[in-house]
Amino acid sequence: MNILLLGSGGREHTFAWKLSQSKRCTQLFIAPGNAGTAAHGQNVALDPLDFASVGQFVLQSGIDLVLVGPEEPLVRGIWDYFQEHEKLKQIPVIGPSKAGAVLEGSKAWSKKFMERHQIPTAAYREFTAAQVEEGVQYLAQHPLPIVLKADGLAAGKGVVIAMNHRDAETEFRAMLDGKFGTAGERVVVEAFLSGIEFSVFVLTDGKTYKILPEAKDYKRIGEGDTGPNTGGMGAVSPVPFVDETMWEKVEQRIIAPTVKGLRKEKIVYKGFIFFGLIEVNGEPFVIEYNCRMGDPETEVVLPRLKNDLVQLLDNCAKGTLGRVRIRTDKKTATTIFLVSGGYPDQYEKGKTITGLEQVKSGFAFHAGTRGQDGKVLTNGGRVIALTSLAKDITSALRKSRRNAKAVQFEGKYYRRDIGKDLERM
Ligand code: AMP
Ligand code: GLY
Repeated sequence: MNILLLGSGGREHTFAWKLSQSKRCTQLFIAPGNAGTAAHGQNVALDPLDFASVGQFVLQSGIDLVLVGPEEPLVRGIWDYFQEHEKLKQIPVIGPSKAGAVLEGSKAWSKKFMERHQIPTAAYREFTAAQVEEGVQYLAQHPLPIVLKADGLAAGKGVVIAMNHRDAETEFRAMLDGKFGTAGERVVVEAFLSGIEFSVFVLTDGKTYKILPEAKDYKRIGEGDTGPNTGGMGAVSPVPFVDETMWEKVEQRIIAPTVKGLRKEKIVYKGFIFFGLIEVNGEPFVIEYNCRMGDPETEVVLPRLKNDLVQLLDNCAKGTLGRVRIRTDKKTATTIFLVSGGYPDQYEKGKTITGLEQVKSGFAFHAGTRGQDGKVLTNGGRVIALTSLAKDITSALRKSRRNAKAVQFEGKYYRRDIGKDLERM
């Protein structure tokens, strides 16, 4: 099969690494890819949001399957674009239709969806600009902290947790006043849930679903979970506190009703669903849905997946996932992200990366990198994820930290405490 993978992050390098291991993968193209993906296939200078160019490439290059890494092409309807074209219609796109991607694309819609299907989530209300004063009154009697969410995609910045009523009101007004552009035309005001977060992933063909290994992501920039949110500074899989009892609750109360709900509402969904969950006093709640795999979670989930990924995606496309049994490596995978100095705020690009050849017994999954004249340069905030697989979390973390030290570039920063909380469990 000839496969086109869309995206350019650590998630996509990991996908490319895994796809290229399959005997069924004839040619792999990554658009636009990075310096890491180029080792597993051919990078193509295409913008994943330029559907016409993507479609043209797919037809010209005899692509048999398209895997969409990031959410934006899905939320903007790449699946639907393919459906509308006579020839492209024959080429499966792994990722939901626009109607399915709205699970991530609209927080208000996803809250209503969960309400309709009795899926546990925080209590909420939604407000538009026409309801500012009503919203302000609602906030004034809301217990603290208050969670405010811009409805649409806001590059991971659309969630604010206000610790007092004054900040809540200021933020609420700013959001409805266009702080996040159209993403904030609607704001969800949500009760704060206190607990421990984890991420669960399924692949669904719309009829059935297969559960992939779970993971824990470390979102804050600073050690001890301090400072601003980032795209993710590291991840661990498995997550020790997600035991059999928790899995049963997650599957029965969250996963099954979500897939069934989509089917019942006749929403076409053949792709990954990412459940951002929180455990509160032993009960799981949905914090958010994403319509794709997580990053950096993919960097620890795929190394533990023993199945042939091309086969799995083909089964997904054909609606035959029911035949598949997921096989998981019992080992622990950990990943530590090296980021550019200053990230998630201002940072410089174009720094030379050295020491990659010293990454032994582990993987260096590239995110913001690019190749130039035989060198690898930094090209983004999150630069390289150092994944290790070992018999236990302590050994895996030790390897990831050793590799994190070996890879060098000016301004490099990483969290040395990734996974430490889980190690103690
Ligand atoms: P998101 O940008 O949607 O990934 O959300 C960012 C983070 O906000 C989540 O990972 C949680 O840590 C936090 N968060 C979102 N909703 C809630 C909530 N209802 N209660 C507590 N924390 C929340
Ligand atoms: N790691 C969180 C995300 O991919 O959105």
